[in-house]
Amino acid sequence: SIKIAIIGSGSTYTPELIEGMIKRKDVLPIGELVLMDIDERKLQTVGALCERMIEAANVPCRVIMTQELDVALRDADFVLGQIRVGKLPARVLDEKIPLKYDMIGQETCGIGGFFKAMRTIPVMLDIAARMKELCPDAWLINFSNPAGIITEAILNHTGVKMLGLCNVPYNMFKSIRESLDLDHPNIEYIGLNHLSWITGIEQDGKDYLKTALEMGLNSETMKNIPASGFSKELIQMAGAIPSSYLEYYYFKNKKLQVVRDMELSRGEKCIQIEEELLGIYSDSELHSKPELLSTRGGANYSEVAISLVDAIYNDKQEVHVVNLLNNGALDFMEDSDAVEVCAVVGKDGAKPIKIENFDNQHIIDYMRMIKAYERETVEAAVTGSEDAAMRALLMNPLVGDYNAAKGAFDELKEAHKEYLPQF
Ligand code: G6P
Ligand code: MN
Ligand code: MN
Repeated sequence: SIKIAIIGSGSTYTPELIEGMIKRKDVLPIGELVLMDIDERKLQTVGALCERMIEAANVPCRVIMTQELDVALRDADFVLGQIRVGKLPARVLDEKIPLKYDMIGQETCGIGGFFKAMRTIPVMLDIAARMKELCPDAWLINFSNPAGIITEAILNHTGVKMLGLCNVPYNMFKSIRESLDLDHPNIEYIGLNHLSWITGIEQDGKDYLKTALEMGLNSETMKNIPASGFSKELIQMAGAIPSSYLEYYYFKNKKLQVVRDMELSRGEKCIQIEEELLGIYSDSELHSKPELLSTRGGANYSEVAISLVDAIYNDKQEVHVVNLLNNGALDFMEDSDAVEVCAVVGKDGAKPIKIENFDNQHIIDYMRMIKAYERETVEAAVTGSEDAAMRALLMNPLVGDYNAAKGAFDELKEAHKEYLPQF
């Protein structure tokens, strides 16, 4: 049977994952589930609900709660990474400090996301190093953000088997199927994590991208993004359907204003939701995931994660959108670039599907620009080079100005110093 370790299990999202495991109990024989978190209160509160859910569903699975990474990793088959270094208060700093320098503060984009990467990469590299010793054949399935940059770091700096995940592609596909009333479309999806587009929709030989562009069809709206949607003109200009994270880039000025005008930052709002959720979770009569959880941005992430585990474990050879090394799938990107694309998943992992003759130059150029930012970001995170950090930030269109970047960098570095071993 399978041993799964959840690193950062105190996340209030964990009951989602448990729900996904219960749904697949007949095809995924999980014998041992280790919940690991360094926050004792959240470990216990969230863990107890998970135990009740598993018991109520009659799943014969041993549940262990621990604060020890090694206990969680030893002989694991799948390690699910969902850490938030510095927790939500660190996110709030990433959201608020950049505003003083007239830059958008967001947890995965711009300089906020840059500092989230600086905090998270050292911890993820440590987890990977422990995995090499304690469970060298295990899969690391990571949703810790910024998920694409973490993938770039892990796959180029460690030898663990790893895939990066996000719920955005799943939600985009779902929304496209629903709005075009298609039940088995082939969807072409290209990008980096939180910088992606749908570039093809086809079913039974008919081209539905054309229809979508003519309509100016938007895809998902994520709960966590104050989204206003893209106009028909913009969608036709791009020649593809952008994910709602593109609003931070395409509407940079307006978004700065929107983020400034928010009474609470998204992180502050999430602190409130989280406290409320922990209160609800403490009720020993509760045996399922409460409705309030759906006000967070992570909708459907359990489906994304557990269906991926299922595809690997049961060698399903089915298509999933994952973050992995390009390895030739997109001929305009380097082999070693982490990209978010469709891949065929089975017991040997994920093979990205090669895209032939891709000619949307706007997307090619945008991906290369942000990838240049991501490469330098990983370099800065791993080596502590402040020159690499500044080079990274200057490549990011949400930053771009040396003086603003330097001021915000110094202030964020000071604010987060206990979580930045590299600087
Ligand atoms: C989406 C993104 C995730 C992100 C989440 C934030 O699901 O894909 O990467 O973590 O939104 O949601 P939150 O409720 O924390 O703002
Ligand atoms: Mn995501
Ligand atoms: Mn058909």
